[in-house]
Amino acid sequence: MKPGRREDREAPIGGVIEVPPGVAAAERRAAPATAELSIIIPTLNERDNIAPLVERIAEALDGVTWEAIFVDDDSRDGTVEAVRAIARRDPRIRCLHRLGRRGLSSACIEGALAGVAPFIAVMDADLQHDETLLPLMLQALRESSLDIVVGSRYAEGGGVGDWSRRRAGVSRFATRLSRLVLKADIADPMSGFSMVRRDSFEAAMRQLSAVGFKILLDLFASSPRPLRCRELPYRFRPRRHGESKLDTLAAWEYLMLIADKLIGHIVPVRFALFAAVGGIGLFVHLAVLYLGLRFAALDFTVAQSIATIVAMIGNFTLNNLFTYRDRRLAGFAFLRGLLTFALVCGLGAVANVGVASVLFGNRQAWWVAGVAGAIVGSVWNYAVTSVVTWRKAP
Ligand code: GDD
Ligand code: MN
Repeated sequence: MKPGRREDREAPIGGVIEVPPGVAAAERRAAPATAELSIIIPTLNERDNIAPLVERIAEALDGVTWEAIFVDDDSRDGTVEAVRAIARRDPRIRCLHRLGRRGLSSACIEGALAGVAPFIAVMDADLQHDETLLPLMLQALRESSLDIVVGSRYAEGGGVGDWSRRRAGVSRFATRLSRLVLKADIADPMSGFSMVRRDSFEAAMRQLSAVGFKILLDLFASSPRPLRCRELPYRFRPRRHGESKLDTLAAWEYLMLIADKLIGHIVPVRFALFAAVGGIGLFVHLAVLYLGLRFAALDFTVAQSIATIVAMIGNFTLNNLFTYRDRRLAGFAFLRGLLTFALVCGLGAVANVGVASVLFGNRQAWWVAGVAGAIVGSVWNYAVTSVVTWRKAP
């Protein structure tokens, strides 16, 4: 080994770091500045809104280096093609095309992770969010130690435009509900329009629930420390092209998000729902058994069998409606699901009785044995039906 040469490389004269020739050339060729702001735009069937939105953003952010990442959940109306057509001419535009996935929150999270800029904005694609707020948001973050700036419909000077009384009422109710999990006092925690410092996002990202629509609420509830926040008012515009994707499933997912933030660290929300349905099932079972014995004068075995079948179908239906609302089975899949549910829960009952009998035989109190058996049975039922009966779409 020649020590002289080695030192040359480790301590270059005058402190100039020697870069391998290939890298230096690549650096010279690279674009001069990377983006200061990543704008994440979730899309689902928004074809006609893409071009006008990009134009408006470019105009509003004149003088800022930015990138826009569209995150599309496999729209079939040509949204992806519309984004790519622009991206071919404008390298600031990118498209993250997800297959077999749905969800506004998860789309925003993955878009943010795909970006590079120190500031991350999230905005809808449908021109309802006022892009002229973007430079003001950016300025507020640059000039302060705020973690996040929220575009607010309910701050002084903001508004929701021509919303129906029903939608305005639902939004107000949901906002009130959010106070259960929110660690900040903010007027519009349901906003879909915000800008956050990347550091602050990264501090929370592994705690995010990522279910449903409300990425902002999720971020506030998941951050390890309270987020320093400012709200900037804007007027929510009416939609011009396409339609809203907020439906009853979105409302349901919202409740799941709140529940996850409240009890998710103790027990998964789905399991809590599954167990609650099981409790209702027990009640149904006893009611049917009582009616059968008392009014139909059935033989006990017959009444018990009927009660078991009714409770089983009832439990399956309730779980299908609520616990697994996002994977709801219909038509033939409903029948097949009912069959696998019955088989799995039948085995669960055997495990339940087995465990309880062993414990009881080992001189445990009757109720300890009974509860232990029920827990083993319901965990089995939950774990297995979640993959067999309501398996996730591929
Ligand atoms: N990638 C992806 N996946 N995008 C989605 C999905 C999805 O599953 N669902 C909706 N989007 C996109 C839409 O294409 C749109 O760009 C944006 O998310 C908002 O969806 P809308 O359907 O227009 O929602 P909204 O107008 O009823 O409600 C919005 O505004 C409220 C007020 O700010 C949402 O941002 C709400 O979260 C927000 O509370
Ligand atoms: Mn919208």
